[in-house]
Amino acid sequence: GTLMAEEAKKLAAYAAVDNHIQNNQVVGVGSGSTIVYAVDRLAERVRQEKLNMVCVPTSFQARQLILQHGLTLSDLDRHPELDVVIDGADEVDAALTLIKGGGGCLTQEKIVAGCAKHFIVIADYRKDSKALGQQWKKGVPVEVIPMAYVPVSRAIARRFGGEAVLRMAVSKAGPVVTDNSNFILDWKFEHAQNWKEVNTAIKMIPGQYR
Ligand code: A5P
Repeated sequence: GTLMAEEAKKLAAYAAVDNHIQNNQVVGVGSGSTIVYAVDRLAERVRQEKLNMVCVPTSFQARQLILQHGLTLSDLDRHPELDVVIDGADEVDAALTLIKGGGGCLTQEKIVAGCAKHFIVIADYRKDSKALGQQWKKGVPVEVIPMAYVPVSRAIARRFGGEAVLRMAVSKAGPVVTDNSNFILDWKFEHAQNWKEVNTAIKMIPGQYR
């Protein structure tokens, strides 16, 4: 990102860690580019304040970050109850409804968040959205079982309009494959949506995994 965007991510991430992390916590670590700054700050505080902390990752990337920073790595088998999860978001509206999954790690992010008492979202000014999906025109990511991507894509478009497009890889031929060996559909649409209804309806389509 630009220098200003990077500075904004860093400021937001440091503030989140400083305001919401305490001693003796099980902390979920989100994914994306903002979380990199949060883990830097977590590691700094663990060193300086000798914090006792266990970290549960939400992706391969988060796991690498935890290990590279010398933090204590755990998982939901050993720590199914988390005190707090810190994570980024792609867009946030006034009701604090989020679009997540720009980085493709949405499924594990959602599972880990579901195990936590508190969910802290780090969002700088670029994530502030008047109408979800319209800010970056990247759409709403939906993880799908590979064999189901066409029926799921059609079911979403039939019910809510727009188009759910298979996300393609950049440095490989073919689709993006998630940490769970699934595909991602990016659902792009024109008009505003009822997000509660959309969330429930998409979850009911066989083959979706979000
Ligand atoms: C990953 O799947 C996403 O949910 C990220 O948390 C989200 O895309 C935010 O990413 P950045 O911090 O890179 O903007």
